[in-house]
Amino acid sequence: MTNLFNPDQLLYGGDYNPEQWPPEIWREDVRLMQEAGVNFVSLGIFSWAKLQAGPEAAFNFGWLDEVMALLHAGGVGINLATATASPPPWLFVQFPDARPVTWDGVRLEVGGRQLYCPSHQGFRTAVRALVRAMAQRYGDHPALRLWHVNNEYGCHISECYCDLCAEQFRGWLRGRYGDIDALNAAWGTAFWSQQYHRWAEIQPPRQAPTYANPAQQLDWRRFSSDNLLSLYELEVAVLRELTPHVPVTTNFLGFLKNVNYVQWASREDVVSLDAYPDPADPHSHVEAALQYDMVRSLGGGRRWLLMEQATSAVNWRTRNAPKRPGLMRLDSLQAVAHGASAVMYFQWRASRAGAEKYHSGMLPHVGEQSRTWQEVKALGAELRDLKGLARMGVPTKVALLFDWESWWALEIDSKPSADLRQMPVVLKYYAALRSLGQSVDLVWPGSDLNGYAAVIAPNAYLLTAQSAGNLRSFVQRGGHLVLGPFSGIVDEHEQIGLGGYPALLRDVLGAWVEEWLPLAPGETLGLRLEDGREARASTWAEKLHLSGGRALAQFTEDYLAGGAAISEHVFRKGRSYYLAADLAREDIAWLLRRALAAAGAAVSDLPLELDVGVSSGEDGWVLSLLNFHRTATLHLRLPEGGRELSGEGSLASALALAPLAARFVRYDRPIVPSDVRVVASDPAHD
Ligand code: GAL
Repeated sequence: MTNLFNPDQLLYGGDYNPEQWPPEIWREDVRLMQEAGVNFVSLGIFSWAKLQAGPEAAFNFGWLDEVMALLHAGGVGINLATATASPPPWLFVQFPDARPVTWDGVRLEVGGRQLYCPSHQGFRTAVRALVRAMAQRYGDHPALRLWHVNNEYGCHISECYCDLCAEQFRGWLRGRYGDIDALNAAWGTAFWSQQYHRWAEIQPPRQAPTYANPAQQLDWRRFSSDNLLSLYELEVAVLRELTPHVPVTTNFLGFLKNVNYVQWASREDVVSLDAYPDPADPHSHVEAALQYDMVRSLGGGRRWLLMEQATSAVNWRTRNAPKRPGLMRLDSLQAVAHGASAVMYFQWRASRAGAEKYHSGMLPHVGEQSRTWQEVKALGAELRDLKGLARMGVPTKVALLFDWESWWALEIDSKPSADLRQMPVVLKYYAALRSLGQSVDLVWPGSDLNGYAAVIAPNAYLLTAQSAGNLRSFVQRGGHLVLGPFSGIVDEHEQIGLGGYPALLRDVLGAWVEEWLPLAPGETLGLRLEDGREARASTWAEKLHLSGGRALAQFTEDYLAGGAAISEHVFRKGRSYYLAADLAREDIAWLLRRALAAAGAAVSDLPLELDVGVSSGEDGWVLSLLNFHRTATLHLRLPEGGRELSGEGSLASALALAPLAARFVRYDRPIVPSDVRVVASDPAHD
């Protein structure tokens, strides 16, 4: 396989869309890419309409040959798209029913992008033919480094409710359940007279008079993710057959709810991500970090590609703030600190026309005189100096449990509260871990948990017997488990475990839940932590009974007063903690501090604006320090003996980190992020 990851190099570049520009610009593009240190571009993502003029037309590769030759001559490697992301209008004249249908029965129209029904055979045949032609033409091109399959599967169209998909869904269900009685049992169709007698009676959960069957909804989510995955696999099969020497990726889009990335990542040679933290939100870097840790974990800890981000503003928020000077660099270096070996953008040159003409690019409309261009060039040079990081991994002993299926199930309608949502809860626990100076891996229900000291599960609403067993044996062997509220409620069919929640983990927790108290917006419920501090639950509280565990916090109000709000239980060689309330980040951190300390992890106290990480490899340990605060300088105390990564000078342990500044510090001995202390901030901030 091509040596895509030259271990001595970080990749730098972006989406290159030459079809938007006349050929005379292409030469200029390559010259400017060289000037900026660009060594990698994603090419052809939206080129299908230019490559193929109609169903009978020969492929028009001439222009792409020319662009690829220019890039190759300029020393720019190519991440070549299969060009299937946005089918051309003629395909829908040929196949009007290849247009997808929404939940409420609307067949979508030509004029945007990503218009396709994943089940349509005519569309699939056209995709196969295009991918085959691309692979045959360019498989041995000397600049080809990677295949970029399609683009952000599921970003706009993650499900299609047409009759073709309904038929596929029935086939998928047959495969899953075998016979219809098993489906009836799994879906609980005895309720509301929903029993099916023939497969043909089953439909997707389209708009119905009231709540659709929850298990049907859950299986629909699974099917829709699998159906898209089959589209990806269709392309990959062609590429593996014709170009087995070229690695393959498809770019993920943050935490995209409807696509279960765990199933996809194992089918890629390298995992890649598109991330768009909002520059107007001073804490958006925390969610970005969570995404980066997710994608690194999806790749089994290997380095990954930041395939897209914005140099400055995007065009798709209500108000699109630019990135202030320094923020683009900081955002990019953050990805590298969390394991990225490529820093890429959408897109190389900002468009003059089309829906994204107000989206920033590496080369803005105003051209080389822009500050963005200056920052792009400076970052390209800086990344060359940070190449040592490309060989390193991100060590950690702390894992955050994340599960797409549980996310889907939690957010199906008709729950005790519609306010308990997956991502805000996960983000809060993650932020708490970061504030304690922890590097974090993400793990999935079936993951091997050996090697972690603590597993934090902010919400595991859906827990199969197998995944509950995985958590149980983790604790049995000496692990420390923190479980958030409304966990372990249902199995894979959205069926409730009886006898006290969570049915499968009551003994592990030494506690069980009797009932739930959803809180209205603005409503809170008091509790007292073991150290005497007062805290308040919002959104959610539970009546918790202890059965062997002990209370680390108690409710102080309403009819829960005196009852446990947080439990701790020693189970075999390990320990479990359960939170019977949705708490503020600081109070979650209070518990996590205790749990991590018991698990033997060093903890510190860091402001969220400071992203601290450690990378390590054969060449030693590198501490990354990124100050996302817009105005405050952070005064830090570092472990002794550090040296600048890009230089030989040794560093004093007192370091002032200016607003939006980043430093990488090298050590010859093991260090952890919690070795860093914030001594003061200037001006003081809360
Ligand atoms: C991504 C997409 C790009 C571009 C970008 C704009 O989701 O892959 O093609 O549209 O968003 O931010």
